[in-house]
Parts: sequence; C-alpha cells; structure tokens
Amino acid sequence: MNTGLTTRSLLLEQLYDRDSCTYTYLLIDPETNEGAIIDPVWEHFDRDLQIISERGIELLYSIETHAHADHVTSGGKLRQMTGAKIVFGENAGIQSIDISIKHNQELKLGNFTIRAIFTPGHTSACTSYYIDGMVFTGDALLIRGCGRTDFQDGDPGQLFDSITQKLFKLDDETKVYPAHDYNGRIGSTIGQEKRWNLRLGNNRPRQEFVELMNNLNLDMPKKINEAVPANMSCGINFNPKRYVLDDISMDDLHHIWQQLSEDTLIVDNRTPEEFASGHIPGSCNMPMGTESQHLDTLKQYKKVYIHCRSGRRSQTVFTNLNLLGIDHLACVCHSGMPDWIKAGYKVEMAPV
Ligand SMILES: [Fe+2]
Repeated sequence: MNTGLTTRSLLLEQLYDRDSCTYTYLLIDPETNEGAIIDPVWEHFDRDLQIISERGIELLYSIETHAHADHVTSGGKLRQMTGAKIVFGENAGIQSIDISIKHNQELKLGNFTIRAIFTPGHTSACTSYYIDGMVFTGDALLIRGCGRTDFQDGDPGQLFDSITQKLFKLDDETKVYPAHDYNGRIGSTIGQEKRWNLRLGNNRPRQEFVELMNNLNLDMPKKINEAVPANMSCGINFNPKRYVLDDISMDDLHHIWQQLSEDTLIVDNRTPEEFASGHIPGSCNMPMGTESQHLDTLKQYKKVYIHCRSGRRSQTVFTNLNLLGIDHLACVCHSGMPDWIKAGYKVEMAPV
C-alpha cells in the first residue's frame, strides 16, 4: 500500500563476539519497532536481551544462517524470553524450530521484507538473507574470503555455485555482512567481492577454486564437538515431546470463568503493566519468559487456561510450558483481552 509517506530506513546493529569473531546482527524497523536477530551467540544472551528490552523491540525472528561449528546459538533462549520465532534453512535437520525457510521465501519485518537465499557449500543447508539492500551471508561469502568446505557436508563446487550464481547476481552496491571476520573488517559490497575476493573474485574458474579449497588443511574449530550438537537443538537441550494444542476462544474462557472451580486457574501472559490496566477477575499474571518460576503453582491445578493480548505470547508460553513438562493447558491462540473487553465482560484493575 502506498501511503504517500517516506519509509524510514531499516536500523542495523552489528554486534561482535571476540572469542569466535562472530557477528550478530539486530535489524529493527524504526516505525513498528519490530526486530529480527541473525546468528545470536550463547555467551552474549544477556547483552542482546538488554538491547532488545531497552529499545522495546518486539523480536519477531531469531534467524540462523547455518548450524555453527564454532559457537552455540542463543536462539532457543531468545525464543523463550521474547516469543521470537526461530528461522533456519530447510534441510538443516534442526529440532524445535518455528520456520523452516525455503529458497526465495519471504518474511515480513514491519515495512520491510527478509528474503531467504539458499547458499549451500560451507554446510549443506547454509542460507543467506537479503533485506533492504543488505545481504547477510553467514559463512558462505566472507569479506575477501569464504567459509571452509571440509566438514558438515561442505562442498567447494556447491559453494562456488552459490556465491557466483546467487550472491554475485545481486546489485554491486548490495552491502555484504558476513557471520565472521578475523581481521577487524565490518562489511563489504557485492561489487567489491566480485572484484577483490581472494578466493573467487576476478572470475576465478570453478575448478581452480575447488582445488584451492580442497588443499587448505585447516585445524578443526576448537568448539566443534560441543557447538554442532548443541546447535542442532537451537542451543537448548530440548526433549521435544509432542503436544496437542487445546485452542479456545475468549468467549469459551468467559464461560469457564463464570463457573470457575477451585482446581482451575486462568493465567494472563501479558506484562505486569498490561495486567494492571485491566484483567480477568481472579486471573493470575505470568508474563511470557517467567514460566519456569511458576511450575509449582501450575501443578496445583487440574486445568490451566492461558491468554494474552493477541494470542501470540500465550502460544509461546504454551510451547515453553510443554517443554517444561506442564501439559494440562488450554490456550487462547487467536484472540485476547481486547475481545474480552469489547464483549463487555467484567474487568478488574490493579495498581502497578
Ligand atoms: Fe560456520
């Protein structure tokens, strides 16, 4: 829709892990304050969460370019605290993800669109992401280099094709942001890499590249034995158990509330401030991200009904609680308090 207004530029925060020389990127639409994080690192979970909460970012996605061998992702923990959906390229074989993204599939981020570009070769399931004149290339294309191809089903010929036939087809002005740089550089452009990339710039022939990559004789990354298995479950030792989502409406919930018995609990997953401004009388506030603190309380009830504002947070809480072994839940997934209020049902206020 053309509103006639100029769209403000996407904001980019480039964050760094000194140990593994990994870049983490935070993308924010300044108008909607919706955000996405790319390749978050386990050790910097607190730093990243602090930035997200300071700025009031609604984190929609935690995106991985691939299953890293040199660090563990904090994607699983970020999902638990923010409700962000974990995005991984399809074929990665990763457990517990939310969006298994296909080549050319798009994700909405406020006024912007993130497009997945399947770029295998460093691993067999590497994916780059294009948004607003920038491409996040993971370990496929690095600044003046490229990712190694000697483990995790890497294939130099495939990497050559991914870079030359997909990434090098983007506009020369496209900014390149890789997952690593070991020499202090922070970005490049497609035009610069086509010309000056040391491994495949200046139209290096495919066979020469394959021979070069097959003779690098690099040491294995020091964290490979812990990082790859941990990243296969998004950084959390999930025991993915199957669960059945019991999806109810706010009208159903009102009916339950009218005849509430002592062994039934209604839980509100919004923030304390939202809860204080109007909630279902007798309901209990359990903001998303605090699930593990309430397990003893929840176990005292035969049935627990959870809801929030739109259903998005409750759905995440439902998943998190299932993973923590709580399964006597019903969830309002497609509605929330605004519909309760609109229906004229009774509301209680509380001081913040
Ligand atoms: Fe990698």
